[in-house]
Amino acid sequence: MIVLGIETSCDETAAAIVRDGREILSNVIHSQVKTHTPYGGVVPEIASREHLLKIRPIVDRAFSDAGMTLNEVDVIAATAGPGLIGSLLVGLTYAKALSFSAKKPLVSVNHIEGHIYSICFDHQHVEFPALALVVSGGHTNLFWVESQSGDFQNLTYRLVGKTRDDAAGEAYDKVAKLLGLPYPGGPVIDRLARLGDRKAVEFSKAKISDRALDFSFSGIKTAVLRMVKAENLEPRNEEETRRDAHRLDILAGFQEGVVNMLWSTTEKAAAELHPRSLILSGGVAANSRLKEVLAERCVAAGLSFYCPRPIFTTDNAAMIAAAGTAKFMRGEIADMSADADPNMRLAG
Ligand code: KG4
Ligand code: ZN
Repeated sequence: MIVLGIETSCDETAAAIVRDGREILSNVIHSQVKTHTPYGGVVPEIASREHLLKIRPIVDRAFSDAGMTLNEVDVIAATAGPGLIGSLLVGLTYAKALSFSAKKPLVSVNHIEGHIYSICFDHQHVEFPALALVVSGGHTNLFWVESQSGDFQNLTYRLVGKTRDDAAGEAYDKVAKLLGLPYPGGPVIDRLARLGDRKAVEFSKAKISDRALDFSFSGIKTAVLRMVKAENLEPRNEEETRRDAHRLDILAGFQEGVVNMLWSTTEKAAAELHPRSLILSGGVAANSRLKEVLAERCVAAGLSFYCPRPIFTTDNAAMIAAAGTAKFMRGEIADMSADADPNMRLAG
């Protein structure tokens, strides 16, 4: 089965062609990062306009890279939410138009479910039940994932934990901005934090007082803000920051705090629910320290650990095609009334 995936939920215009939910025939991503960097974050109106300009060439490129035409595709899968409404509408409407004109079935995919499927290209066999930690610029969610068939065909999800305030990626982006570093903050802080001392500046972990398996990142962000004000830290670019040991220590301490917060809730959930594995995905899953710490702690806790390659941690359409393939196989087909939902949930 050949599935065309389309993803435009935020600031990547992406299209991919995937065979049988696993084999990537093409995977094209146009990132709008350069467009949004001068504004310090994604500007929704500009994002929709750029998706409009790029959607057709990107989908065409996915066909030419795969050496295929629309006629050879069996299903069209597009992200319907969550995300920016104007951005979502571009990809979903384009998918609907292709589906209508070529008489191909349409599947609407939840972006978060796509992120969970992003591990299936490198990990053919995943041990379920699993905990899935989906960490991105817009979300920080912990799901309990079961598989009815033992593979990726019939996954069911239960939301067991979420952020009470900022998403993990959002905290990276805001802290970067506070110190004068460019958007997106995650990759640049990841690079710089490696040069600092993780223990020199310690940020205390947010306390989640009740038994909930939640996360919180606004406290650590505010702690950095207070430090910036108290020490009169002026904005510095990446090169200048590299030469400033104290700033590197702040970044290393911040990153360590975020990683510890993510692990401590995950560990609590694992102790309660006894999963066989942990899946880490979403934009922040590219973080080198997070991967290192989670891989280590999972070994110690007797859990298998799965994380996608960087090309699949960032928003992409291959993961949407993979999730769409499973949905199609389950008979969950959309029609022309399919609508974008900026607040779409994966599970209650
Ligand atoms: O999944 P994604 O591409 O878009 C959303 O669905 O939000 O995630 C983007 C987020 C941004 O906040 C970015 O700063 C963060 O992922 N990110 C990282 C790294 N690479 C991207 N955060 C920490 N370390 C990284 N290496
Ligand atoms: Zn995403």
